[in-house]
Amino acid sequence: MKNLTFISCLLVSGWLTGATAADKNQPIYKDAKAPIEDRVNDLVSKMTLEEKVFQLNQYTLGRNNNANNLGEEVKNLPATLGSVIYFDEDPELRNAAQKKAMEESRLGIPIIFGYDVIHGFRTVYPISLGQACSWNTALVEDACAVAAQESRMSGVDWTFSPMIDVARDGRWGRVAEGYGEDPYTNAAFSAASVRGYQGKNLADGKQVAACLKHYIGYGASEAGRDYVYTEISNQSLWDTYLPPYEAGVKAGAATLMSSFNDISGTPGSANHYIMTEILKNRWKHDGFIVSDWSAVPQLIEQGHAANRKEAARLAFNAGLEMDMMGHCYDKYMAELVKEGKISMAQVDDAVKRVLRLKFRLGLFDNPYTPKTTAKERFLLPQSLATAEKLAEETIVLLKNENNLLPLNTKNKPTIAVVGPLAKNRPELLGSWYGHGHAENVLPINEALNAEFAGKANLIYADGCDFDGNDTAKFNEALSAAQKADIILLCMGEKKSWSGENASRSIIELPAIQEQFIAEMKKAGKPMVLVLANGRPLGLSKVEPLCDAIVEMWQPGVPGGKPLAGVLSGRVNPSGKLSITFPRSTGQIPVYYNQRKSARPNSGKYQDIPSTPLYEFGHGLSYSTFNYGDIKLAKETIKRNEKIVVEVPVTNASKRDGAEVIHWFISDPFCTITRPVKELKHFEKQLIKAGDTYVFRFEIDPMRDLSFVDSDGKRFLENGEYFVTVKDKKVKFTIED
Ligand code: NOJ
Repeated sequence: MKNLTFISCLLVSGWLTGATAADKNQPIYKDAKAPIEDRVNDLVSKMTLEEKVFQLNQYTLGRNNNANNLGEEVKNLPATLGSVIYFDEDPELRNAAQKKAMEESRLGIPIIFGYDVIHGFRTVYPISLGQACSWNTALVEDACAVAAQESRMSGVDWTFSPMIDVARDGRWGRVAEGYGEDPYTNAAFSAASVRGYQGKNLADGKQVAACLKHYIGYGASEAGRDYVYTEISNQSLWDTYLPPYEAGVKAGAATLMSSFNDISGTPGSANHYIMTEILKNRWKHDGFIVSDWSAVPQLIEQGHAANRKEAARLAFNAGLEMDMMGHCYDKYMAELVKEGKISMAQVDDAVKRVLRLKFRLGLFDNPYTPKTTAKERFLLPQSLATAEKLAEETIVLLKNENNLLPLNTKNKPTIAVVGPLAKNRPELLGSWYGHGHAENVLPINEALNAEFAGKANLIYADGCDFDGNDTAKFNEALSAAQKADIILLCMGEKKSWSGENASRSIIELPAIQEQFIAEMKKAGKPMVLVLANGRPLGLSKVEPLCDAIVEMWQPGVPGGKPLAGVLSGRVNPSGKLSITFPRSTGQIPVYYNQRKSARPNSGKYQDIPSTPLYEFGHGLSYSTFNYGDIKLAKETIKRNEKIVVEVPVTNASKRDGAEVIHWFISDPFCTITRPVKELKHFEKQLIKAGDTYVFRFEIDPMRDLSFVDSDGKRFLENGEYFVTVKDKKVKFTIED
């Protein structure tokens, strides 16, 4: 009896239940075991207006390494600040700022630290446009998980990635950052990257929050110029630009970033229809939108707001929760609330969205990043292996006349390796290379030396620079070429030629490179053109001069090793283009899923063929894949019935190889006209030499055959549809 009384006394006093006197007074929001929504509500109920406003602002911390976003480093961050862009790569500075937020603010609300981790943090892997050419979503997911782990261990909780702007104009520098010209492809990689970044538990210390950007239509920038107007009909908005965002939101993307562009008269950062009606009301997204850098005050330049206060009001009321470096919300929001121009309910909702993510990331319970050495975080063997595998799969073999590749090394050939990229490390990183270091990149020459040691003689000559008009080194390169059996031309773009604020009016190689390639042709030897670049290029002038063309994109730290593998045959190329290569800049925009023409056989340019140089989906292999006919389970189906289509593909060569198959649907007649064809499914499969693999696609009519109207309403019409794979095509019908 005595014992029982003692135990119940302990229970009451809280000793055995773990509740202490201090705990009893602990607010709900500090209770790690309480449900997140309860914690959010409790905290918001305790906050002053000023504290709420500061949660909706983002400043910067650390050395700003982004030339387009030069801003004052804020040395004395307010302790109540919501977020910072963290430019450092070590957790120390972050932890110091976090300590201030936790200990010097009244309520101890942690800061969320964001950064542009676009294609790797330190283990930089290929640019996104190249990643999409792998058609390997699982591998991209793995690469994003590597980036997430390096970031989180370095003090970054949130990446401003993925960029999922459908882009069809190679002049636009930012075409490098997305997954190409097709909505479905962008949607697939949007979901994959969100899964990779966020994992299953944002609070496990290895994941970061994702940010879908730039919401929306930035890729439609007029003539490929950056930061400009976009004319997007609501039909195209739903058909083309929204699907990747819907997929990312469905995959659980924590945040989105508003876009710089003025969409048909209403800038993205003040667009109520897209930010509130679609994202919050229809898609029920419970995270938040951050503006792009200074996009709120830029509403003035765009002619939408007369001053910064009005800009704050328009952006916030349209549904934009966080002001990135615009200093409009911090300055005017409280005033706007007091004047009744912004409602307190909306401020509360916005703050809850920000806090919800902070709780999900575990920042309240574990605000600090554990200290680790750079060696423990970066360039781990497994991370490097993932980057290398992805770089191998992004390579697209565009041309291979007389099977020049893989190089025949039976007689130990001499290979002249020439061009500005042959020994270069930094340019292979691509734009937005995070905290990547050039010294970690394996240059092409070193990779070739290792790959061909004892098998070929390699001689090097620079030949020419990326641009300019210096031909002084042409002769040296030509005499190297004359001594060689094969010429390897390493050409392309500098990393600063793509990315933000890096558009080009002409997407051909600079004249000096074209001239140099023509000069090398004088040696009369087989020529392999190797390209590393951040956009599709206009290759019409140089294509006829080269026997083989290898598009390696900007591969990141794996550098020249995957390329060397393709040249030697150690790697069988499996990449296929995620974006069309036009014949010339003047042919832009040219993309596979154009709407139908009234006169399909006329109306073409008089000076070039109507086809592009290399179409979306083009890519060669060292294996030979023979496609059988497409088999339909049924020729007529009901509206709610699924239908399976299959196509057998045989690897008729002696080499194992991976084949990517693209399933396209076309709807010949429709109330709202449809594109010539639309990608609805893709699959990549390793097929062993001599084997046949049957690719399969289960068509779900509502998902794959329906179309949207200009307000996103979905319709399915009865009638004929075609499914195509390569040059195989079959018809089926839907009826009641
Ligand atoms: C501007 C860019 O448009 C955006 O993509 C990036 O995330 C922000 N700056 C932050 O660096």
